[in-house]
Amino acid sequence: MPPVLILLTLLLPLGAGADEIIGGHKVKPHSRPYMAFVESVDIQGNKRYCGGFLVQDNFVLTAAHCRNSSLHSSMTVTLGANNIEAKEDTQQIIPVAKAIPHPDYNDTVFSSDIMLLKLGRKAKRNKAVKPLKLPEPSDQVKPGDVCHVAGWGKTSINATEGSSRLREVQLIIQEDKKCKKRFPHYTNTTEICAGDWKKKKTFYEGDSGGPLVCDNKAHGVVAYTKNWTISSGVFTKVVYFLPWISSNMKHL
Ligand SMILES: *[C@@H]1O[C@H](CO)[C@@H](O)[C@H](O)[C@H]1NC(C)=O
Ligand SMILES: *[C@@H]1O[C@H](CO)[C@@H](O)[C@H](O)[C@H]1NC(C)=O
Ligand SMILES: *[C@@H]1O[C@H](CO)[C@@H](O)[C@H](O)[C@H]1NC(C)=O
Ligand SMILES: *[C@@H]1O[C@H](CO)[C@@H](O)[C@H](O)[C@H]1NC(C)=O
Repeated sequence: MPPVLILLTLLLPLGAGADEIIGGHKVKPHSRPYMAFVESVDIQGNKRYCGGFLVQDNFVLTAAHCRNSSLHSSMTVTLGANNIEAKEDTQQIIPVAKAIPHPDYNDTVFSSDIMLLKLGRKAKRNKAVKPLKLPEPSDQVKPGDVCHVAGWGKTSINATEGSSRLREVQLIIQEDKKCKKRFPHYTNTTEICAGDWKKKKTFYEGDSGGPLVCDNKAHGVVAYTKNWTISSGVFTKVVYFLPWISSNMKHL
């Protein structure tokens, strides 16, 4: 196989495999009130889990690869959760009325890997459920900036008690050059690359669709990594997609 193809086969969409924040820590319950747990069920009843985040009372942002393109698949969003395996009073389980993946989403290279979910009803805002701010058009992250990613992760569903809780890991914005080497399709106009090359202990395994939070704003959406033993990954750059996000939220 030519090297490029080998690399491509190593690209793991984070929603497809075993996703779990690793090397991070549990967060104080409900301290990340924007976090959404996204469940997708296809026509055969197969389930798939992703992260996402509330951006308006009736809109959740996630990754496009979290959608099952088969007909009659359905999605639900759980807000206000800490332990996703428990029935918590704070949880709001809301069906998705409409999934709007970005029209340029490319499932080979995971470009434009972003999707809006219009909720069937508005979320009720409270201490456990609150939207996350989107960045301003002029906001930028730069190498060295410290950000966070939270998630539950697919493997946690059938795993030990602890991993069913929301976890978070700290990641650092990386230099474009380094990322380009590791991720051949990485492009700095539409993507952000973050991780920690030195500390193997703090790598994370995934949670597609979850937010990369820098300065209390959603700068990125977890898109892909090459190999979950490597402590870095690529995020869809929210700033670039702001016009698409706001026009879709306005017109739906
Ligand atoms: C999603 O769709 C594909 C076919 O497009 C199918 O192979 C897969 O099993 C489906 N289900 C899930 C949960 O991803
Ligand atoms: C996805 O991107 C690859 C690489 O740029 C390109 O070869 C392919 O045609 C694209 N696929 C679609 C469906 O646009
Ligand atoms: C992207 O990379 C190019 C070339 O390396 C650089 O000139 C440009 O400033 C970068 N853009 C952003 C938004 O980081
Ligand atoms: C990921 O990387 C590790 C260490 O480099 C390697 O042992 C492992 O086989 C890789 N896994 C995949 C799925 O590529």
